[in-house]
Formats: sequence, C-alpha cells, structure tokens
Amino acid sequence: MEEKLIKEAMSAREHAYTPYSHFKVGAALLGKSGRIYRGCNIENAGYTPSNCAERTAFFNAVSEGELEFEAIAIVAGPEGGELVFTAPCGVCRQVMMEFCDYETFRIIIGTAPDAYREFTLKEILPYGFGPKNLE
Ligand code: THU
Repeated sequence: MEEKLIKEAMSAREHAYTPYSHFKVGAALLGKSGRIYRGCNIENAGYTPSNCAERTAFFNAVSEGELEFEAIAIVAGPEGGELVFTAPCGVCRQVMMEFCDYETFRIIIGTAPDAYREFTLKEILPYGFGPKNLE
C-alpha cells in the first residue's frame, strides 16, 4: 500500500499551484473505507490563504464524507528538481490530530515509490492536543 500511496501522491503533486514558492507537494490520504483522497499545495498572492497538500487531501476527504483515516503519503520538492524528504508542517499535524488515531495513523514521507520513511502521528506530534482533551 505504501508504494501505491506514494505514486498517488506523485500524481497529485503534478497539480500543485506554486507560483510563489515553486515548491511542489503532493499527498495521498487513505481512508478507512479504502478510498484514497489526493491533495496538492495551492498558493495565493495573499500568501496566508495558501493551503498545504496534506490539508487539501484531508479537506477533500472530509468534504466527501470520510472521517476516519489509516495513512497519508507525502512527496515534495522544488519545481523541476528531485523529490526531497519533507515532513508535514505544524498546522497539518494539528489537522491530523483532529481526524486520526494518535498511536496508529501512519505518515509516509517518500522520495520514490520504494524509498520512504514512516512515522506515527504520536512520533511527529508529541504531547498533541486533540478532541479527546475536550471530553
Ligand atoms: N507545503 C506543503 O504543502 N506541505 C508541507 O508539508 C510543507 C510545505 C507547501 C506550502 C507552500 O505552498 C510550499 O510548500 C512552501 O512552503
């Protein structure tokens, strides 16, 4: 499944809209239903309205009714260059915290379909704050 998700993320990256950073990111999010939701980064002349690939994938999925997730693959790199190992930003980690199991959700960071590192949400967001804190 890792290879398939990374390939999907690579396809998603082709749609990245990055006239300002020229740094292109693609994501592929696996829902518990088995469906895969793609996302790319979408920048804006106002800068702050820009959206990361990971959040695009989550919002795409949630807007289609999927609320539970297994894993996300992320690929990133400068336009026209090689893919580089790129971990999700803090805001995207917080969005993962809202919808994903802290101990089991997998974040797959790839530079090729057969070259990746895998982390749990707990590993990349220690002492996270999420919905359970408000119960
Ligand atoms: N970006 C992502 O889409 N995901 C990440 O994990 C890191 C950063 C985007 C935001 C912006 O469009 C560009 O990469 C440069 O920061």
